[in-house]
Amino acid sequence: MVGKALLKRITPPRQLTGDVAVPGDKSISHRAIILSSLASGSSKISNLSLGRDCLSTIHCLKRLGVEFAGEVDQASSLLIHGLGNNGLTEPENVLNAGNSATTMRLLAGVLTTQPFLSILTGDVSLRSRPMKRLIEPLRLMGAEIYGRDEDSFAPLVIKGRRLHGTTYSLPVPSAQLKSAILLAGLFADGSTTIEQLQPSRDHTERLLKRMGAKLESDNTHIILTPLTSPLASVDLHVPGDISSAAYWLVAGAIHPNAGVKITNCGINPTRTGIVDALLDMGAKLKVENQRLDGNEPVADLYIESSQLKAIEIGGDIMPRLIDEIPLLAVAACVAKGNTVIKDAGELRVKESDRIVATVRELSRLGGRVEELPDGMVIYGGRPFIGAEVKSHSDHRLAMSLAIAGLVAKGDTEIHSAQVAEISYPTFWEELERLAIY
Ligand code: S3P
Repeated sequence: MVGKALLKRITPPRQLTGDVAVPGDKSISHRAIILSSLASGSSKISNLSLGRDCLSTIHCLKRLGVEFAGEVDQASSLLIHGLGNNGLTEPENVLNAGNSATTMRLLAGVLTTQPFLSILTGDVSLRSRPMKRLIEPLRLMGAEIYGRDEDSFAPLVIKGRRLHGTTYSLPVPSAQLKSAILLAGLFADGSTTIEQLQPSRDHTERLLKRMGAKLESDNTHIILTPLTSPLASVDLHVPGDISSAAYWLVAGAIHPNAGVKITNCGINPTRTGIVDALLDMGAKLKVENQRLDGNEPVADLYIESSQLKAIEIGGDIMPRLIDEIPLLAVAACVAKGNTVIKDAGELRVKESDRIVATVRELSRLGGRVEELPDGMVIYGGRPFIGAEVKSHSDHRLAMSLAIAGLVAKGDTEIHSAQVAEISYPTFWEELERLAIY
């Protein structure tokens, strides 16, 4: 379990107003930490996500010999002393990725290429998430990697060795899988080509290019040439996490008396599905002051109270908003009309089965939500009624339920609300700051 059990009570506020600087993007933070650890020289990374998931990545890399200057639990800036292509050392103990699949899958990609034994494990949730999809392509590259239950689940055991590049067609639009293959490909003999039917978040590709790797990519193909010299260290400012900003976007849109501005938020097009979906629903959402921060696009987002209408979503947008579906379901409960969400089967293998968990908990709050094999149907326009709900130990569910509670009739109590720390440690304080009672 993450942290000490927290029961959070949400009292609907009269007004929601203010500016928010959301924490650094979690996906970019993982990649910045891992790639800087493999670079030659030191990198200063600022505005890092200090959620538990990124702390897990730091913790594992420390065990592999990487040195970090700065107190990781306190500051959001870190100096990382990269060890170059051959500097990681065999860990004395099992590496624990906690709740973080990004940590486990990306590090597995690196570790299959390192000349030592490593074992990766995680918490109950992570040990039930699919790993065959990771093991299969890495084995095609020559990796010695094994998982529990005939290579289905973690713990993963890896005996690192020299790999060869491959051409691989991704069976699911997973950025974790894609990134694991690219990280292994950095140190392989010969180039690696990845074919993707649907583009997923491309932070690994962007950062690899920025750090000097030879990588060509478009929406369907990525071709990586292995490193001949180590990645170059770079100083990096991590943009705000749009997946964290999304809570305030939906809160602002569904609350009848709201105006919220989110500053310095990442708007990488592979992540902005939630913005497109909310605009389609009629949200009064503005994307202003667009600019580049390093190699990532950022902007300020402004949202105010809106009359939302139902939408039907599925297909190519799904990888661009997969983490925001529980939250979008909250918006859809309030919207006028019936929303259909499909092509979202990946939700079943996230930190919880997010289809089951979302349907169950929003129903407790008076929503009418029906499960589909790959999504849900939401019959909108019914007010939420405060109730006791459970987070299913899933950070995104805990925070989505809090947003529903903001517009419910009466108070909502969320069990195991501490899990928000996984991606957004300051979420509850921020909510208090924006709320006027
Ligand atoms: C992530 C990729 C996505 C996403 C996860 C973070 C990443 O997972 O759901 O929260 O940082 O690469 P998949 O790769 O399983 O789609």
